[in-house]
Amino acid sequence: MHIDIITVLPKLIESPFNDSILKRAQKKGLVTVNVIDLRPYSTNKHNTIDDYAFGGGAGMVMMVEPIDRCITDLKSKREYDEVIYMSPDGTLLTQPIANELSMKKNLILLCGHYKGVDERVREHLITREISIGDYVLSGGELAAAVLADAVIRLLPGVLSDETSALSDSFQDNLIAPPVYTRPSEYRGWKVPDVLLSGHEAKIQEWRHEKSLERTRERRPELLKKH
Ligand code: ADE
Repeated sequence: MHIDIITVLPKLIESPFNDSILKRAQKKGLVTVNVIDLRPYSTNKHNTIDDYAFGGGAGMVMMVEPIDRCITDLKSKREYDEVIYMSPDGTLLTQPIANELSMKKNLILLCGHYKGVDERVREHLITREISIGDYVLSGGELAAAVLADAVIRLLPGVLSDETSALSDSFQDNLIAPPVYTRPSEYRGWKVPDVLLSGHEAKIQEWRHEKSLERTRERRPELLKKH
């Protein structure tokens, strides 16, 4: 998989990809992530990529031309399955969307800023808009990092134990069960006996029960989809 991230703040998004799982995924050659600075695609001598909104109103708008030039440049090198605009107005990111995107080959993520992008970008260049939650961030960079992380960890070979992504919360619309590690007792706080029993079937049954119980308590709306 290849992911290109277009941003006016490249520094803001580089570090999540230089550590831990995301770094290892790139080292193993399972994904390449390229952060692209939008500013050099500016067409004016001040290198600006935003301008005042037609009709007035507070806030600057990202111009269509630099974004078009940047995306056209990228498209001259490879074909993309999706050009995604990170926006609070987009479809809410869920595990099924992450699963779907993890099966694509090449993605562009466009990070918005200021009052967002000129509507013509959304009409003519973007194939889908994704939000990471019903709140507004100062830019799309952190949202793009969240989306890329959710997708990359699903690629075969990224997690050492491949089943661990399948047993994540939300993969079956249930919240994951509690987990414990050594010591089996700490300050009188005990690990449930069943987990120490070695009885595989009983352990699976207990975990499923706990998942259902937690989902019922915390996210009852998920149970309808389960
Ligand atoms: N940009 C600003 N807020 C955002 C959000 N909630 N999701 C995606 N992109 C955003």
